[in-house]
Formats: sequence, structure tokens, C-alpha cells
Amino acid sequence: MTGGGLSFDEVDRAALAAEFDPNSLDAAFYENPYPTYAALRELDPVHRCPDGTYFLTRYADLDPIYRDRVHFSSDKKAVFGPKFGVGSALYEHHTTSLVFNDPPYHTRVRRHIVGALTPHVLQAMEPQVVALVDGLLDGLEKKSRGFDLIDDFAAAIPVEVIGNLLKVPREDRGPLRGWSLAILGALEPNVSSEQRADGDRAVSEFTDYLRLLVEARRRQPLENDLLTRLLQEKDLSLTELLHNCVFLLNAGHETTTNLIGNGLNLLFTHPDSLEHLRTTPDLVASAVEECLRCESPNQLGNRLVVQPICIRGVTFEPGAYLTLCIGAANRDGDEFPDAEAFDIGRRPNRHLAFAAGGHACAGMSVARLEAQVAISRLIQRFPGMRLTGHAVRGGRARFRGFRSLPARL
Ligand code: HEM
Repeated sequence: MTGGGLSFDEVDRAALAAEFDPNSLDAAFYENPYPTYAALRELDPVHRCPDGTYFLTRYADLDPIYRDRVHFSSDKKAVFGPKFGVGSALYEHHTTSLVFNDPPYHTRVRRHIVGALTPHVLQAMEPQVVALVDGLLDGLEKKSRGFDLIDDFAAAIPVEVIGNLLKVPREDRGPLRGWSLAILGALEPNVSSEQRADGDRAVSEFTDYLRLLVEARRRQPLENDLLTRLLQEKDLSLTELLHNCVFLLNAGHETTTNLIGNGLNLLFTHPDSLEHLRTTPDLVASAVEECLRCESPNQLGNRLVVQPICIRGVTFEPGAYLTLCIGAANRDGDEFPDAEAFDIGRRPNRHLAFAAGGHACAGMSVARLEAQVAISRLIQRFPGMRLTGHAVRGGRARFRGFRSLPARL
């Protein structure tokens, strides 16, 4: 105990919270950020970072911020200018995609995307996802020496699903994952000049490719095709169309790969829950929601303050920049009883994994469908499957997932 009556643990936690700097994270944090998040949530929920930005961790703060478009903006031009360099490919891409914009531009683009992802489109997608997953499971069955649940399974699903949505020819899909990782990787709190160069190159290559695809689609429109539909929208310029297609291909890619990978890891490290799900398949929808809550694929969001507002006694003036920690809010005991427990039957489960409000994920139904099909079909087909250890985390703070998750039958 210290002179003030605090245990060493409490002193450590206080230091962890007080010294937290999202621009300087260590290997232990990437492995398991949740003890740090718990310390911040309890001891310093509106944490001022060394660079003057703020890091917020409580559910009761994040949920209303995500829904408030009067005090908070999603426009990132002021932040991405210094980060990527005005005029760079990364700057043009990220400041043109709908997610980093406010109305009226955001409303216009979102309407087209939401309008294209109708329940009818989703219904038509389901048998394709089932066939795709079953084909991948056939492939795993043949790998008698083991396989990687990320490369050989989880990552192979979203690229096909979104590729199908935009009808990207199958033989062209190879580079999509690499482009996506490079472009989204540049959104990490701290990026090297090398990562920026990779991101710039990926945006240029991706948009060059899509330009050709757009020309082909103009010459020959296709039925049930999101790209054909977006091309018919007269209020989207070519630049807006290209960058929002790049965003769509990226948004549904790494995140969904990570949902499936994180979900399988959670289930295989909680054998009772795995067995419960195997014997009660109807629980798959709520199991996927619990995976989204416990290991949120997108852990961090950002908002810029545009009107003065006071949160927990801290007054924010316009220009203040907030990081909203979804990963911490989703384990907040004030919202989720026994928040650290993995409970596949949890109800209610109002997690923020897809954010909330006007920018809530437009592809959440697609992501849910993919994860439900992938997880349920894998665990039913391979009751003897087990992880073989040596899992490697992705090493990212914003997009949490595995680089490799080895397993065998
Ligand atoms: C598990 C998978 C996914 C997760 C965790 C996820 C998470 C999110 C989050 C947190 C946002 C809000 C960002 C913000 O405002 O700060 C978002 C936006 C978005 N997501 Fe997803 N997403 C996933 C899958 C997908 C898929 C599969 C698609 C497309 C088919 C997609 C399309 C979008 C779009 C278009 C937006 C922008 C919405 C807007 O700004 O109005 N996402 N996503």
C-alpha cells in the first residue's frame, strides 16, 4: 500500500490512464488493450492526450456523440491535410468518401448506397455466401497439416462478397485486400512515411483500376449491380464515384475479416460457449453480436467539435478533436452487466461496433450475414477443429483482428 492508501495495482492503473498516448502504443497494448481501456473508462474517461486531442471511453458519452451532428462533425479535411498532405492520393480519397463528410454531401452519397443494399439484395446474397463458405470449408478439409483461419477462410469471404456486389471480375480481385490494408492502415493514430507512401500508391492503383471498370460498365451496364446503379446517379461526379467505391470495397473488407477471425477465436477459447452454440444454432445471430461487442473490429472513431459543448466537466471548443473508443465503450459495465464476460445469449446488446446515428455502418446487414454464415457453417461442419496456438494479432489499434490464426481438424 502507498501512503495514500492505494494498492500498487491502483497506482499502476492510475499511471496507465494518466500516461496513455494513442500515438505511442506498445506490443502489450496491441495484444490486449482492454486493461488500459478499463483504467481510462474508470479513472479518466475524457482523457487529454499529449498531442492535445481527447480520448473518450464511456458508453454513455460515445452513444450521444455519435448521434449528435450539431456539435460534432465527421469532416476530416482539417485533420487529414497535415496527416496525409493536401493533394495527396490518400487525402483526396479519405476526404471524398462519405464516412468523413457531413451533410449535404454525406446524405447524397449515403442515400445511393443504402438504397442499393435493400433486403431483396441481401436475400439474393445469402445462397451465394453459403456456397462460398462451403467451398472454403471443402478446401480446409483437404489441408491435413493445418490451415490459417484468416488467410484460408475469414479473409477470403468479404473480398468475394463485396466483389460480387460491385461485380468486379473474379480474376481482378487479387490486389483488393492489399490495397484495402494499405489505405485503411494509413488511418492508424501514428503512421510512418513508408505507410503513407504505400497508402498513396494503393489509392492510385485502386482508382486507376476502377476507372477502367467504370468505362466497361458504361459500355455494358449489368443487372443487380451496385456500380451500374451508382453510375446512373447523375449527382455523383466520377471522382466521387471512384472514391466511394474504393471506400465500399475497403469498409466491408478488413472489418468483416476481423469480425469472423475475432469471433472464431472468442468461440474456440470459450469451449462452453462454442458447444452451446453448436447445440443451439439459433443463437448464431446473438453470438455474432456478442463477438462484435467483445472484440469490436473497428475499435476507434473520431469526431471534430464544431459547436462548444461540455462533457463530464470538460468544455470543448470548436476545433477540439475526439477519438471515440468503441472498444472501451463496448465493455462498459454501466451499459453491459458483467461486461468482461463473453455471453453469446446477451440481451439486450446495444453495442456500438457499427457506431450509431447518421453515419452508422451502411453495410452492417452484409457483415452480419457473412459472419453468421461463416461461423455457423464452420462450427457445425468441423466439431473436432482446434486452434493450434501461435496466433498473431494484426498490430493495429483502430482495426482489431488477427494476421494469422492457425488451426487444424
Ligand atoms: C464487421 C464489419 C463492419 C464493421 C465493424 C463496420 C463498422 C463501421 C463503423 C463503426 C462505421 C461508422 C464510422 C464513423 O462514422 O466513424 C461504418 C461506416 C460505414 N460502413 Fe461499415 N463496418 C463493417 C462492415 C461493412 C460492410 C460489409 C460494408 C459494405 C458492404 C460497410 C459499409 C460502410 C459504409 C458505407 C459506412 C459509411 C456510412 C456513413 O458514413 O454514413 N461496412 N462501419
